[in-house]
Amino acid sequence: MDIHSCSRPDLIRVHHLELDLDVDFGRRVLNGSVTLHLERVSGSELVLDTRALAIHAVDNAAGYELGAPDPILGAPLRIQLLPDQTWVRVHYTTSPQASGLQWLDPPQTAGRIHPFLYTQSQAIHARSWIPLQDTPSVRVTFEAEIRVPAGLRAVMGAEMSGNRFRMPQPIPSYLIALAAGDLEFRALGPRSGVYAEPSMVDAAAYEFADTEAMIEAVEAMYGPYRWGRYDLLVLPPSFPFGGMENPRLTFATPTVIAGDRSLVSLVAHELAHSWSGNLVTNATWSDFWLNEGFTVYVERRIIERIYGPVRAAMEAVLGRRQLDDEMAGLREPDRVLHIDLAGRDPDDGCTLVPYEKGALLLRTIEQSVGRERFDSFLRGYFDHFAFRSITTTEFLEYIRHELPNPVALDEWIFRPGIPAGAAEPHSDAFERVESGWPTDTGAWSTHEWLHFLRWQKPPDMARLEGAFHFTDARNSEILFQWLLMAVKTGYQPAFPRVAAFLKSVGRRKFLKPLYTELMKTPEGQALAREIYAQARAGYHPIAQATIDGIVK
Ligand code: BES
Ligand code: ZN
Repeated sequence: MDIHSCSRPDLIRVHHLELDLDVDFGRRVLNGSVTLHLERVSGSELVLDTRALAIHAVDNAAGYELGAPDPILGAPLRIQLLPDQTWVRVHYTTSPQASGLQWLDPPQTAGRIHPFLYTQSQAIHARSWIPLQDTPSVRVTFEAEIRVPAGLRAVMGAEMSGNRFRMPQPIPSYLIALAAGDLEFRALGPRSGVYAEPSMVDAAAYEFADTEAMIEAVEAMYGPYRWGRYDLLVLPPSFPFGGMENPRLTFATPTVIAGDRSLVSLVAHELAHSWSGNLVTNATWSDFWLNEGFTVYVERRIIERIYGPVRAAMEAVLGRRQLDDEMAGLREPDRVLHIDLAGRDPDDGCTLVPYEKGALLLRTIEQSVGRERFDSFLRGYFDHFAFRSITTTEFLEYIRHELPNPVALDEWIFRPGIPAGAAEPHSDAFERVESGWPTDTGAWSTHEWLHFLRWQKPPDMARLEGAFHFTDARNSEILFQWLLMAVKTGYQPAFPRVAAFLKSVGRRKFLKPLYTELMKTPEGQALAREIYAQARAGYHPIAQATIDGIVK
């Protein structure tokens, strides 16, 4: 049972969708219909999840009724089926405020001429643009026809031919994805490429040139890539996440285009989801660590194969330190892997715990049983559960059978904090960074700079700026780290850059800490309110909800 869905897939299960939608930029709505194909087990009532949808009609049904909306779950659409009928068609229009859609005006794009639309369905936002059984325990195949204004191109995480789309592998609803804008394509390899606005596409193709090698690296470890093509879509800077693993078409923030491929662990991460997450899927949002913990583990293994163990170790240490920092501020129940989300929005469970504690558990098991045995376990796991959605309990049953007693699994999964005996990532390069004021930074990587900045306690901001000019940094991660330190220490010379950054980027990982730190002083609060008043309209609804909670 998934507490974040009103649907009852145990009674009637949707297995295939046909979408037929017009993208209306003028009204900021999607308008059209979805045909749902059903497998009937018992009963005659089909319950779909919806949020802020206007339902116009339901074809091939005896009747329907839209229930009262719940603030987290949205409104159930109850459809009375005709005897023996195995499909219904719902005609609907989305709301301009749909939580899973962002409508961008031309000034919010790189080209500034055409509008842009993209969806973000994870965790429970698919229901704001398609009425469906919005639970990761249900998988569907789909077909779609999407009409966009002349001059724009629609893309979906699916096989594409013109404005028609087809997803032949069954996927959970949170992976259904659509975007439309002024997009160009560059091939990266025989089965990979990148879509971006014309002015960005060459920089994107340079940045992501190692994508094909990454696909081959995972295949060598964990078995074939099962989705056909792997493309990336670079979104405008308001995209609230780093990346989203939509099948066949990862959505990515432009803030990873650093010019030196130093932030492509994001590609490794979203690609890794093609195995952990998209192939083997968390059945409920309390099992989210099965998606993200496994993915961070695989991501680091990709980095190790492509860029070497030195870089992989640095990324593991950075992740470990950030986990400690974040966990210090979390309540005990949020420091466990299998979290209790009763009464909560699943987006709230998204801390570093499922990511980094999850990855650390797998790293610890690897250390205990040896890499060879662990890799063959993982490969078997992906094969065994391929195209299925599983709970933490099913994972536990499987691993207990395949790898008896590797580590104290119950403690790792159900108790707060990091158990004794956890693997400890270590980086010699970082030890050198810690050894005093640097004299030769010419060969430093982004990772060394990030560690250097985080290591300064307390930082001498003026000296750091004088020596290294961080306020002019072009790498988004280094700039973010520097600006966060500037806010924490009240270093005024960087404040105009803080304001400009918050007005130009909508990635929640950057916004949330900066606004949170600003709100800690009276002057900071005034500045945060002033910036947010101007920036809010440009943020995604998901980021707006997060920052509303911080700034109001
Ligand atoms: N699937 C997540 C993004 C997500 C999680 C969206 C929960 C909505 C709800 C994606 O794979 C992810 O983890 N992205 C990270 C980047 C990654 C390199 C750690 C992000 O966006 O920061
Ligand atoms: Zn992820």
